[in-house]
Amino acid sequence: MNILLLNGPNLNLLGEREPEVYGSTTLQQLELLVTARAEELGAKIRAYQSNHEGVLIDRLHEWRRWATGCIFNPGAYTHTSYALRDAIAAMPQVRVVEVHLSDLKKREPWRQVSVLADVVAHRIQGKGIAGYLEALEWLAANPAR
Ligand code: DQA
Repeated sequence: MNILLLNGPNLNLLGEREPEVYGSTTLQQLELLVTARAEELGAKIRAYQSNHEGVLIDRLHEWRRWATGCIFNPGAYTHTSYALRDAIAAMPQVRVVEVHLSDLKKREPWRQVSVLADVVAHRIQGKGIAGYLEALEWLAANPAR
């Protein structure tokens, strides 16, 4: 299992950014946690964060033949990016799990819309950092067909 761990805009500030919403774990700590659990599961992780929509698309393109799954928190692009949606739809062999630290259902109306929702394989929200680990377990339990 080869997993791309992708984080979008502003997630580089995890730990200091609105900790009451997103928690106090840093991005580096999160990547280490996911990588450690992946090793236990015999999976490989490539972790990447970008604040730029096109760069996230470039990484998906670049790693689409390597990755069997992707754990993706697209940040605010979740609500706006038809370009990311098209990128995910273009690579059905990569199962993408959309992860959000916060529970979007309990937040502003505009955050409750995900333009990616119907092209991803699975969605997890409102579980903080544990959501990323759950995404990993989900990918391990749902191998590609
Ligand atoms: C987020 C929710 C988004 O609405 C927000 O723009 C983020 C983080 C989350 O993890 O809860 O940057 O994806």
